[in-house]
Amino acid sequence: MWRTVEAGMSAAKQWPTHGSLPRILRRLTPFSYGQAGDGRERALARYVLANTPPGDLDAAIAAIDRFAYRNARLINIGEEKGAILDAAVRAARPARLLELGTYCGYSALRIARVMPPGAHLYSIERGAANARVAARIWRHAGVTDRVHGLVGTLDDGGATLGRLRGPVAGGLDFVFIDHGKDEYLSDLRLILGERWLHPGSVVVADNIEYPGAPAYRDYMRRHEGTLWSTVEHPTHVEYQSELRDLVFESTYLG
Ligand SMILES: C[S@@+](CC[C@H](N)C(=O)[O-])C[C@H]1O[C@@H](n2cnc3c(N)ncnc32)[C@H](O)[C@@H]1O
Repeated sequence: MWRTVEAGMSAAKQWPTHGSLPRILRRLTPFSYGQAGDGRERALARYVLANTPPGDLDAAIAAIDRFAYRNARLINIGEEKGAILDAAVRAARPARLLELGTYCGYSALRIARVMPPGAHLYSIERGAANARVAARIWRHAGVTDRVHGLVGTLDDGGATLGRLRGPVAGGLDFVFIDHGKDEYLSDLRLILGERWLHPGSVVVADNIEYPGAPAYRDYMRRHEGTLWSTVEHPTHVEYQSELRDLVFESTYLG
């Protein structure tokens, strides 16, 4: 059951009986448009800014987790799966990283905390409102020298790919996939088409079991030992311990 503490944040919990069709759909399927629709993401930014000292990355991450447990459900990777992501970044020691699906910037903060000095993370988000929330939190946490947000999608006709071509011309050492579940495989193919991966590049993908990314999962299993070598991490959906999930950590064999 979702709980909220901020006034005016309860719309997503009510059964919608009136309003335009897009508005009703948005309320029936929270997060399908990137935000829950009740202001919780903006409330999160206010909470982080009000309750953590500027420049304190650990405090910002802890505050986001606290908000997600106590105030309103968020679709961050969360603590349990976040630890898997942390370990993968530490092991890969990447210099250039790409994230698909910024949301409020939580996983980017976790990545920034453990990536080597001098590394740069480029994080792509379809929703401008989410990107604004993430940018506020990143500025406050002091990571904007190494975390760079882009609004767009990899399949937006070349606009976003074009903006990335300069910064990632030397290739990508690490990719974190956590956006539209039906877009995991097609966007990975776009990245491969750009020849941005090299043998040893690591791709971590969230939500392989829940809500599930079956085409991506089947692709990785089909190419195991030839194009990719994958470690499957059994885990749980963010911020609870009942629903099972899987995180894939795949090394490109070239
Ligand atoms: C699960 S959330 C990402 C959570 C974030 N990685 C974290 O752990 O803090 C998914 C995000 O992907 C965005 N999104 C959906 N489809 C996208 C696409 N094709 N390209 C970029 N972002 C997309 C959504 O708007 C949403 O903010």
